[in-house]
Amino acid sequence: MVKIGIIGAGHIGGNVARQAVRAGHEVVVSFSRDPETLRAFAADLGERAVAGTPREAVTGAELTVLSVPWGVIDAALEQAGTLDGALVVDTTNQFGPGPGPEAGQTAAAFNAARLPGARYTKSFNTLTAGFQAQVADRPLETRVVQWICGDDPAAKAVVADFVDSLGYLPIDLGGLADCAVMESPRRPGAVYGEEYRRADAEGVVAAVRAGRPIPPTPAYE
Ligand SMILES: NC(=O)c1ccc[n+]([C@@H]2O[C@H](COP(=O)([O-])OP(=O)(O)OC[C@H]3O[C@@H](n4cnc5c(N)ncnc54)[C@H](OP(=O)(O)O)[C@@H]3O)[C@@H](O)[C@H]2O)c1
Repeated sequence: MVKIGIIGAGHIGGNVARQAVRAGHEVVVSFSRDPETLRAFAADLGERAVAGTPREAVTGAELTVLSVPWGVIDAALEQAGTLDGALVVDTTNQFGPGPGPEAGQTAAAFNAARLPGARYTKSFNTLTAGFQAQVADRPLETRVVQWICGDDPAAKAVVADFVDSLGYLPIDLGGLADCAVMESPRRPGAVYGEEYRRADAEGVVAAVRAGRPIPPTPAYE
């Protein structure tokens, strides 16, 4: 059992919360324009979930999921307070308004810098919320990859265990400087927006590590 704090329990964060409860984890959901909706969502998840403020979600969490629209990341982080030492999984993609990365900088590297002292990782960002909800907990042979990137190997190992517990296949793609293929927009030569399974993931990791273009996008039955 892992104590999970969720900042932004919407499409993606809400999926993660529901799947985490199903896997036996404890969850605090937070950040909403309507606290009553948040409380109702937590109640629907059952006794292993409660609603709180972002600060309450982060406090005592072994793993914090940041899952808010790009334009409100700073507002969410302000409500969360310090994340120094916290293990954070960032699910965000850069759409819409708000400050963004410099040319050549990944969104992950940009966001990691907004979280001073955090053990930053990025995952759950490449597939639509609907697809993630549909494919979680598939049998091992067709399990869908959740890519993970970050510069802290120990943090990525914790996230990999968590991702596995939710019913996906965790694959470590590399460091923050190398994870551009995980990031929006959907395009040829990127894993963003595409389903991957184990056999095809290995070729992607090898290519990214070698600085080569990744193999063509796989298609599954
Ligand atoms: N949706 C997808 O398919 C998908 C897939 C991969 C990655 N992502 C990325 O993951 C992140 C989360 O996406 P999402 O689709 O899950 O987002 P979302 O459902 O639109 O929003 C997440 C949560 O943030 C809260 N929120 C939004 N604006 C707020 C504000 N001004 N003040 C307080 N709370 C606010 C919402 O709560 P209330 O509505 O209750 O206010 C909502 O529950 C985004 O960065 C997105 O790009 C999304």
